[in-house]
Amino acid sequence: MARGNGATPAAVAPTTPNGAPDGGPILSIRDLRVSFPTEDGAVQAVRGIDLDVNRGELVAIVGESGSGKSVSMLAAMGLLPKGAQISGSVKVGGQELIGASAKAQRSVRGQRMAMIFQDPLSALNPVHRIGDQIGEMLDAHQKLSKQAVNTKVVELLELVGIPQPADRTRRYPHEFSGGMRQRVMIAMAIANDPEVLIADEPTTALDVTVQAQILEVIQRVQRELRSAVVFITHDLGVVARIADRVQVMYAGRSAERGEVHDLFRQPTHPYTVGLLSALPQVGRSRLLPIPGAPPNMLAPPSGCAFRARCSYAQDLCAEDPPPDLRPFGAAETACRRAEELAGVLQP
Ligand SMILES: Nc1ncnc2c1ncn2[C@@H]1O[C@H](COP(=O)(O)OP(=O)(O)OP(=O)(O)O)[C@@H](O)[C@H]1O
Ligand SMILES: [Mg+2]
Repeated sequence: MARGNGATPAAVAPTTPNGAPDGGPILSIRDLRVSFPTEDGAVQAVRGIDLDVNRGELVAIVGESGSGKSVSMLAAMGLLPKGAQISGSVKVGGQELIGASAKAQRSVRGQRMAMIFQDPLSALNPVHRIGDQIGEMLDAHQKLSKQAVNTKVVELLELVGIPQPADRTRRYPHEFSGGMRQRVMIAMAIANDPEVLIADEPTTALDVTVQAQILEVIQRVQRELRSAVVFITHDLGVVARIADRVQVMYAGRSAERGEVHDLFRQPTHPYTVGLLSALPQVGRSRLLPIPGAPPNMLAPPSGCAFRARCSYAQDLCAEDPPPDLRPFGAAETACRRAEELAGVLQP
């Protein structure tokens, strides 16, 4: 599979005109903040997130429900509701998206950057044929003849592993199983060879066998298109299997990030240890809860937001400003006590 018009082999993708100008990460997020004004005050959903993802790399974002995983990626995509207040920087291939015009954001969305969601049925139009819906994605961003669109639609369905793709283009969403619909969603997302693919819990609604197949399709996109993939999940088992790096989020901030191998072997933040010890046993695919609950994001606590649930917390953990990520060993941690706790924290 080749990028763009098919002339450039994927293996030399970094030299394509759409590459990051400095050869750095294709997706680069800095100090991203999102709040939602409500009657009770502002919900501070995301409070300063940095994220870099290189071509062909898969970075997992993990964290409990409400930690801001979806909101941060929806902000990057320009898909949050109007009232949301967003600041910071999101660059795709050097192109700044925060504050960009709606037109510029639309042109990036679906072309340079695409997203797949947990529930494919809600994103597919029930009264349009599958082939037409994928074709629309192509028409929106490329000038192709009708025949070229049809050919590309069949190629895309083939790529995501749909049998008899030519026949399937004429079918409607209700004629597809859940796993097949998710494959269609992936085909739509990758129709224009996006440089960045964001997957928000794309397999949570699927059974284990289908989940494994969908993960394979996503890894294929990562490998063959060399897309940068951001994979949001609760499931650390999935992270261990497919991610290159992982970023742990808590209460709208980053707790820790690093290579998957390092993080599983030697976590540096007590919250990560909590997530790891909540790892499901065989036969259970969801995390067991860490005792206590995440803070109310209308009034986040001072300092480290995890301190109320942390058995290692001390007075210094309450000090503002909240701790940023800093290099620690092979990883980066936001725990102020990481040095003292090294050797104490056990996964
Ligand atoms: N439109 C909105 N208005 C007000 N608050 C919102 C809105 N959307 C999200 N939030 C809040 O923002 C916070 C972060 O939500 P987000 O959906 O990013 O969590 P998440 O990490 O994706 O959780 P989950 O694992 O359950 O999907 C939550 O406290 C949520 O209630
Ligand atoms: Mg979410």
